[in-house]
Amino acid sequence: GRTRAVPGEGPLDARIMLIGEGPGFQEDQQGRPFVGPAGELLNRLLGLAGLSREQVFITNIVKCRPPNNREPLPEEVAQCRDFLNGQIALVNPKVICTLGRPAMHTLVDPTASITREHGKPRKVDGILYVPLYHPAAALHRQDLRPQLEADMLKLKAILEQALGQA
Ligand code: URA
Repeated sequence: GRTRAVPGEGPLDARIMLIGEGPGFQEDQQGRPFVGPAGELLNRLLGLAGLSREQVFITNIVKCRPPNNREPLPEEVAQCRDFLNGQIALVNPKVICTLGRPAMHTLVDPTASITREHGKPRKVDGILYVPLYHPAAALHRQDLRPQLEADMLKLKAILEQALGQA
């Protein structure tokens, strides 16, 4: 049912990758990740971590918009997994931020609680994973916004340590 596939975008030598859930309405129209309201918030949040959007590679666990923005089904995630693994291998980032529970479950730990694990870095196979709340969740739940902002400040410190970047 997609209009356009949304493979992701960013520099192939990015040291940081952001991985969300799946394309929404705007993303499906434009073929680019995080260009709707959640993307606008994401761009502002990246600033808190001392990052610009141009510096990071942004993609999703599924490349096609699920009908009515429902959560991707396990078989849809599985279908896109080789493509995602290929992207991670190609970009070879030092740090991967997962955005939202489905991305955390897919890439970090299928049983982890986002309430407990958000903002806590974990190293898996040489890559530092930082689970974050999804910006779209912070648009719907005002109480998540300060937590996400605090995590971005924490991410800034994590990046400074992991990458030696100011
Ligand atoms: N939400 C996502 O998870 N990904 C996008 O690309 C846009 C919104």
